[in-house]
Amino acid sequence: MIKALYGMLALIGLGFLFAGLKVIAPSGRQDRELAWFPLVPEDDVPRSGVKKSELVYAVSGRERKARVFIVASSGKLTVLSAVCSHLGCLVNYRKESKEFVCPCHGGKYDIAGRNIAGPPPAPLASYPVDVKNGMIMVGVKV
Ligand code: FES
Repeated sequence: MIKALYGMLALIGLGFLFAGLKVIAPSGRQDRELAWFPLVPEDDVPRSGVKKSELVYAVSGRERKARVFIVASSGKLTVLSAVCSHLGCLVNYRKESKEFVCPCHGGKYDIAGRNIAGPPPAPLASYPVDVKNGMIMVGVKV
């Protein structure tokens, strides 16, 4: 019985230790450098509407791919991640309702990526966007 109590106290102590380390040394994710990767030529994107695309980028020399949506609206370009903020399924765009809909649990996002219905707890992630030499460039923290 005493050993079990000491075991529980040790686990609680470890929990506080790890919580303390996290406060002292937060994840380096925010400190990562922003790198720019080409997505598609600007001319391939309609002036208004949504285009599905795949972003190819590299982190530490390893190629990665991300499904994204390029949203052109009111003269502004936005690049949204297609990954649902609930449990990570890939959302689809419904042109008739101008919404992104998740096939897994019915989550919905408006055209700006804001979560508007269902279980998603947050908007779709968006990427920094720039246009250089006619190419849409997307910023990714690497
Ligand atoms: S994973 Fe998208 S709503 Fe659950």
